[in-house]
Amino acid sequence: MSSSVEQVEPQSKYKLGFTTLEDEIAMSDLPVKGTVPTWLSGTLVRNGPAKFEVGTQSYRHWFDGFAMLHHFSFKDGRVGYANKFLESNAYKTAKETGKISFSEFATDPCRSIFSRIQTAFSPKASDNANVNVTRLGNRFLAMTEIPVPIEFDPETLKTAGVYDSPNRVPGQLTTAHPHYDFERREAYNYITHMARQSSYNVYRIPSGSEKEELVSSQPASEPSYMHSFGLSENYVILAEYPLVMQPLELMVHGKPFAENLHWKPERGTNFVVIDKRDGKLVGTYHGAAFFAFHHVNAFEKGDDLIVDIIGYNDSSIIRALYLDVLRGESPTDIPMGELRRYMIHLKGGEAEYVVLSKEGPELPRINYKKFNGKEYRYVYATGSSGPRAFADELLKIDVQKASSKVWSEPDCYPGEAVFISRPSALAEDDGLVLSIVLDAKAANSFLLILDATTFTEVARAVVPHHIPFGLHGQYYETTTKSL
Ligand code: CO
Repeated sequence: MSSSVEQVEPQSKYKLGFTTLEDEIAMSDLPVKGTVPTWLSGTLVRNGPAKFEVGTQSYRHWFDGFAMLHHFSFKDGRVGYANKFLESNAYKTAKETGKISFSEFATDPCRSIFSRIQTAFSPKASDNANVNVTRLGNRFLAMTEIPVPIEFDPETLKTAGVYDSPNRVPGQLTTAHPHYDFERREAYNYITHMARQSSYNVYRIPSGSEKEELVSSQPASEPSYMHSFGLSENYVILAEYPLVMQPLELMVHGKPFAENLHWKPERGTNFVVIDKRDGKLVGTYHGAAFFAFHHVNAFEKGDDLIVDIIGYNDSSIIRALYLDVLRGESPTDIPMGELRRYMIHLKGGEAEYVVLSKEGPELPRINYKKFNGKEYRYVYATGSSGPRAFADELLKIDVQKASSKVWSEPDCYPGEAVFISRPSALAEDDGLVLSIVLDAKAANSFLLILDATTFTEVARAVVPHHIPFGLHGQYYETTTKSL
């Protein structure tokens, strides 16, 4: 740091993004600067934590906050907006009792040890689905890592209730990052089943069905905490980081989930590769220890499997996302991820990686529909100008040329960059990128629309309040017809 001015608590600028939003509003026309392309006709639905206190109690971690849904609807160049809390049982109970009653990622209510067992492993586990949204046929579901998705109406954002699958593969911890295979027309996810003999259960849901079908069950004596996974043309890839759980400890100790995660770097990170076609284990490939939240993409090249991932040297990023750290007055470094390309030789050998970009990206997105599981070129992500800046940039990374384009504006903190392909686009990056940006100076947020090719602003729609930093969202061309 060259001057004392720069050292003045950069956190204090983005702190607003970790502050509760109580307002629930609906507006048919947000003020727009610039011109929204008329081909953009659909709805962006976003999810994320938005309320961090219940009565006099406070949540401890960013990932603990109550889910709020936001939608931005686009029609004839106009932008509508609405936001609403997800009426999960955890949220409703908190509202009724004025107390935290369910166990979240890093916050546990004061309860007897027996109730804790119940919260961790019964349907009473917190259904605060604040991570992502997905579509299953004509249903829209808010998701978290506890397998209790909540159905909602994408137009009104009204909560319909807990969604019960007609056939659920057993387990207690899943991902809010399901994949979709557009050629086979199947959704994929996995769930960790914690028991005397724990396992990773990979399953699929064929299009037109709601039944989960078990593809493969792989034993895991100390299951790894994996927030997402990879899907190539033929394989499901679990990157088994050495951040592990001991199921018995989780059941008995009653500490919040995050405090039952143990970093065991001596295990290394093992890539578990499963063939989608027959569920067989292709192999387990060892690599040096690292941690990640997000896979970016994976594809096959002959006998090699390429797995792109936002890797961290260790799991300290989880500690850095506690609210006391994020809202702290003194500058604290937040670990920055690297865009790593792991090369797995399916016939055997150690998994090695190269770094594809000098930037520190997170919340990666790609042109998913056309390029997931295939060789691709562009990653859209948030970025940081430094370890104390949180996410103050948007990035478009060209993984083939190791170059990037950057969007940033003073005191602005963007969220996940969602790519939308232009109808009849031929080029991979022909389309738009949508991101909710917190304008710390104006104390509100705006929806930024960038031209994905040039990565320059096309338009912005200004929201009358601040939107707390969210996690993930999806864009739907229509909210009435199935995929
Ligand atoms: Co995520």
